[in-house]
Amino acid sequence: MKILKTIAEVREQVKAWRAEGLTVGLVPTMGYLHEGHASLIDASVRDNDRTVVSDFVNPMQFGPNEDLATYPRDLEHDAQLVEAHGGDIIFNPEPEEMYHKGFSSFVDMTVLTEELCGLSRPVHFRGVCTVVSKLFNIVKPDRAYFGKKDAQQLAVIKHMVRDLDMDIEIIGCPIIREEDGLAKSSRNTYLSEEERKAALILFHTLRYGEFMLKNGERNVAKITAAMKEKIAAEPLAKIDYVKIVDLDTMQQITEVDRPALCAMAVYIGKTRLIDNFFTEDLWNSADPKNKEIK
Ligand code: PAF
Repeated sequence: MKILKTIAEVREQVKAWRAEGLTVGLVPTMGYLHEGHASLIDASVRDNDRTVVSDFVNPMQFGPNEDLATYPRDLEHDAQLVEAHGGDIIFNPEPEEMYHKGFSSFVDMTVLTEELCGLSRPVHFRGVCTVVSKLFNIVKPDRAYFGKKDAQQLAVIKHMVRDLDMDIEIIGCPIIREEDGLAKSSRNTYLSEEERKAALILFHTLRYGEFMLKNGERNVAKITAAMKEKIAAEPLAKIDYVKIVDLDTMQQITEVDRPALCAMAVYIGKTRLIDNFFTEDLWNSADPKNKEIK
């Protein structure tokens, strides 16, 4: 496993693989890797001959008052994890390597970025689409892997690839959770012990929303109101949004009468956490726990 710092080095390596007729998977990350990232690497290693993991805290996707400066970083740990899961390269560029002086081209998207995180974080998806496009141009992978925890990001990337005729298969992988249900996230490390307990409200509230749907409720206003009420009872939690949107357009709906995404962003103390469920996964799962929640 190699750590490469420059675009030229990555291109050279990928060219050599291509000359041997090998396929290439890309796992874009911002580092501080956990089991969620590991599951993406596992999927890429399973599907492709070679796997590149990008490890780059992308300044362009952070707003002025967000956590760019404090975002956790640990390249040594990341290297161990990538190696253990069979990845071949970590691409870990400096910001200047990705954004040269005078950089002024961006990839932006309308409609799908108007709700959810796109509404709360106005520059976020422009930064994500731009950096992911650059990574696609650098690595030219056959497939790229994204977690379903960032459900809007996954929808945006799929849409971008279709709109811009990028010849890359986008694979969405299931959310990986801690034993008690909290979705794995690099930002969980910001939580104090008390906040870590409070953060479970996201998972419990999603399960409650699932329970309502499983029991026949289809009215979005009723479901989201009940979910918000539950979160409001947790003193350390502050709601950014709890919404149900059409899975294709990411626009709000009033009835759950089509494939939909139920997504939330909630501050626990100063830490903003996101989580979600896809209604299609809910209909397909026979999880008996859905019946237990009151
Ligand atoms: O999901 C992330 O970690 C980032 O948004 C991504 C896709 C690596 C782009 O910086």
